[in-house]
This record gives sequence, C-alpha cells and structure tokens, in this order.
Amino acid sequence: MSTHIAAEPGQIAPVVLMPGDPLRAKWIAETFLDDAECYSEVRGMLGFTGTWNGHRVSVQGSGMGQPSMSIYASELLGEYDVQTIVRVGSCGGLTEKVGMRDIIIAQGACTDSGINRVRFHGLDYAPVADFELLRAAVEAAETLDLDHAVHVGLLLSSDQFYTTRPELNEPFVAHGVLGVEMETSALYTLAAFHGRFALSICTVSDHLVTHEATSAQEREQTFGDMVEIALAAATA
Ligand code: HPA
Repeated sequence: MSTHIAAEPGQIAPVVLMPGDPLRAKWIAETFLDDAECYSEVRGMLGFTGTWNGHRVSVQGSGMGQPSMSIYASELLGEYDVQTIVRVGSCGGLTEKVGMRDIIIAQGACTDSGINRVRFHGLDYAPVADFELLRAAVEAAETLDLDHAVHVGLLLSSDQFYTTRPELNEPFVAHGVLGVEMETSALYTLAAFHGRFALSICTVSDHLVTHEATSAQEREQTFGDMVEIALAAATA
C-alpha cells in the first residue's frame, strides 16, 4: 500500500486511465472494463482494475489540480510500477479554433503553476506527451466515427479554475494554446522523471470565448468517445 492508494502490489495494471473525478473512474470501470474490481477507496479517490479487450487496465481518479494529480501519479509510477498513464479529462476552450465537445489530445502543456519552477530551479521545462501514445491516440480517433473534431495541440495547466486574472490566458492563446485544464503539466513532468509514458486527452466542456457549457448528458457521451481513444492508445 502507498500513502494514498490502498492497493496491494500487483493489484494495479501497468496501464492506467486517469479521470479527475473518482466517480468517472467508477463509471469507466463499470462501462468499459470486464471483471472490474475496486482496489482503493482512500479519501474517496476510487481506483479499479479490470480488462479491456483482454488487456489488464486500471482506472484511478486523480482529483483536481496539479498537487492532487502529482500525489496519485507519483505513487502509481514510483510505487506500483505503472508504465502508462492516460489522463481523460475536461478542459475549457480558449480559442474559437476548438468547439464545444471537441477532443484535444495534448502534445504538450504550458502552466502558470509554480511547481515546475521549484522543480527546475526557476528554469523552464517543456512537458510533452509520449510520442507513441500520441500517435496511437490520433490513429484510434481516425478509426472512430466521432461527432466532434479532434485536435492535437497545447493545453494550459492552470492552478486556478476561478482565476482573477483571465488576461493571463492571452499570451498563451496568441502562441497557439487550445484549452485550459489543471493537471497535464504535472502528469507529463512526472512520467518523464520516472521514464514512463503519459498522454492527456481532454473534451472541451466549457468555452471561455463563447461562454457555452455542456449538459451532464452531453459530457457523458463525449466522455465515452475519449475513453475509447484512450483505451485503444494505451493498449496499442
Ligand atoms: N479552467 C480550468 N480547468 C478546466 C476548465 C476551465 O475553464 N474547464 C474544465 N477544466
């Protein structure tokens, strides 16, 4: 058992999907996995292991924000020998280039967080996706009959959902960033540190330009598309 995950060694698969919401983890396990069993309920941050198309796969909630993601990703990678993590999350659209419910596969993640400034002594690190996972996700998306566009590009991992300084998004948008969420920079950095493989796939659930928001039902449908892409990429 690690500090925040109550799994015995071997109970977590080498491949893990990570939604922010632990109830999404439960929904993914019940909807997509065969023979799913819950391995941890510590702090309500549920984790499950089952099989998908014959591959052992786990689903673990990450919580919201880079500190929470960092705790769970560090324990999965450092203590459970997890090889591949694919985040399946939501993001806010930052530009009209992306529409509501579009899927963004994150090639890399910018951040306004201080976490990597501390980690890299004030210098800048460029957290990027594993290329093979990225390629497999794009190929999986191309084979699915999706109702919404799939983009490959940059996300901004912000420390604040309720920002008091929205103007700070502007330079990121001017440099091509497509969406804002709160976890990918930490995930990519930690996967690199441990020599493992990570990818982040997000559905646009609200839009900071058009101010649209999705209904719960719409989120479920598009979330399912994203999970299929993630499962195919993670087990390719
Ligand atoms: N900001 C940060 N994280 C998010 C957002 C947002 O607008 N939407 C979904 N995750």
